[in-house]
Amino acid sequence: MTFGDIIYLLAITLELLFLPLLAIYIISITISWLYGAPYVATRKDELSELVEKAKKYLTKNAQFIELGCGDGRITRMVVRDYGMKGVGYDINPLLIVVARLLTRFQRLPQALFYKKNVLDVDLSQADIIYLYLLPPIILTMKNKLLNTVKKDALIISHAFKIPYLEKYLIEQADGVKFKTYYYNRSK
Ligand SMILES: C[S@@+](CC[C@H](N)C(=O)[O-])C[C@H]1O[C@@H](n2cnc3c(N)ncnc32)[C@H](O)[C@@H]1O
Repeated sequence: MTFGDIIYLLAITLELLFLPLLAIYIISITISWLYGAPYVATRKDELSELVEKAKKYLTKNAQFIELGCGDGRITRMVVRDYGMKGVGYDINPLLIVVARLLTRFQRLPQALFYKKNVLDVDLSQADIIYLYLLPPIILTMKNKLLNTVKKDALIISHAFKIPYLEKYLIEQADGVKFKTYYYNRSK
C-alpha cells in the first residue's frame, strides 16, 4: 500500500464519520427553527451581568426554569453560583445530550435537562423563568405566562420583549447585541 493509498483511506474514513454527524447537526438545528427559535446561545461574556440583575430572586430554595435551554449554560451557572435547583427544557434532543454531558462533567446534580416543547412545560412552580425565543412563540405562550406562572415570579426574556407583559417590566439590561427584559407581575 502506497502513502497515497493510506491518505485516500483516511480521507474516506473521516468523510464517512463526518457526514452523518453533519446530517444529525443540520436536522437538529432545523427542528429548533421549526418549533420556535434557532439555536443561538446567550453570549458567555453577558451571562454574569444578566444573572446579576436577577440576584435577589436567586435564593437557594427558588426554582429556575429555562425555556429553550440550548446547551444549558445559564441553568448550570445559577445552579453552580447560587446553589438553587434549575431545570432546562429544549425541543432539540442533541442539545439536551450536550447539556447533560456538560452538567455531568461539572458535577451539578441540581441542574436537570429534559427534551420537551416549551408549550408543554409546567411553569406553576417556577420562581425565575429565562427565555431566549423568537416573538411568534413568545406570543403563543401568552396564556401560559399570564395564567399559570406565580404572580411574584421573575420572567427574563433575552433579545425580545414580551408585549403582553409590558406593564410589568421592572428592569432592562443593555447587552452587546441584545437587550434583556425583566418582568414581575406582582410589581
Ligand atoms: C436562541 S436559543 C437559546 C438557547 C439558550 N437558552 C441560551 O440562551 O443560550 C433557543 C433555543 O430554544 C429551543 N427551542 C426552540 N423552540 C422550542 C420549543 N418549542 N420548545 C423547546 N425548545 C425550543 C431551540 O432548540 C434553541 O436551543
